[in-house]
Amino acid sequence: MKPVCLVIGAGAGIGGNVGRRFAREGYHAALCRRTDQDGLDRLVGAIEGDGGSASGYLLNAVDDGTIEQRIEAVEAEIGPIEVAVYNLGAQIGDRPLRSTSYKAFEMGWRLGCFGLFRLANLVCPLMEERGAGTLLVTSATAAVRGNAGQHSHAAAMGGRRMLCQTLNAEYGPKGVHVAHILVDGAVDAPDTLGKMLGPERYQQLRETRGMEHDGLMLPERIADTYWHLAQQHRSVWTHELDLRSFSDSPWWNG
Ligand SMILES: NC(=O)c1ccc[n+]([C@@H]2O[C@H](COP(=O)([O-])OP(=O)(O)OC[C@H]3O[C@@H](n4cnc5c(N)ncnc54)[C@H](OP(=O)(O)O)[C@@H]3O)[C@@H](O)[C@H]2O)c1
Repeated sequence: MKPVCLVIGAGAGIGGNVGRRFAREGYHAALCRRTDQDGLDRLVGAIEGDGGSASGYLLNAVDDGTIEQRIEAVEAEIGPIEVAVYNLGAQIGDRPLRSTSYKAFEMGWRLGCFGLFRLANLVCPLMEERGAGTLLVTSATAAVRGNAGQHSHAAAMGGRRMLCQTLNAEYGPKGVHVAHILVDGAVDAPDTLGKMLGPERYQQLRETRGMEHDGLMLPERIADTYWHLAQQHRSVWTHELDLRSFSDSPWWNG
């Protein structure tokens, strides 16, 4: 039975690349996303083409019971979840306060914060029982810096960061490593940034800042850090870190 790396939010960017990286190292990658069966099949196919093992699931993580059912099924049918990756974003673009509906704000919290709470609620005790496990949480600049138009996103991501700290306080001493990974800048991610910008602006951004310029973070390189975090000795765990391109300003100067 292979150990499992469960990814909640596995598009062609960070989520899919992290799954692929762990599969290369011998894990079964259990990949979940909301839509796009073809994208999921391509990802599973690419991992299998590398000689790895993967399965893909469509689920809407904000719907009651979906994360919980998937965890139970993976544990019963595939193997122990040694690594769980919470990779859902909660970005809705800049919206002034009066244009941020109650519904949009609550949805940000569901994606940014509550989904992680639900995932942790099941996987942390399982990891504790087994004496080890890693929960890797992707985050964003908004986790540490509120800004105009970011009411929903910053509140959700700030909550996510604090939840990582409280999880660490309770589960770190029980052998569960929780890392909050602040992705401080734009990622070359077609399923998220690409869709938000639209094909033309995305391609233009890639040509001016991305590709050989390395000004857009490469998800396969981000995945290297996730792998490293999961390998750390418990005497030197990283609990929080940030990643950004060499040419970007850090969040505290931006
Ligand atoms: N992209 C950036 O520039 C950037 C910058 C800073 C931080 N981040 C952080 O990076 C993470 C995302 O990584 P990424 O941008 O590289 O994207 P990605 O891993 O390519 O894709 C994330 C996936 O999450 C899935 N998802 C969204 N809502 C969902 C839901 N309700 N249920 C299930 N799946 C859902 C989407 O699936 P569908 O496409 O099927 O809806 C999407 O494919 C987020 O935590 C975000 O805050 C990204």
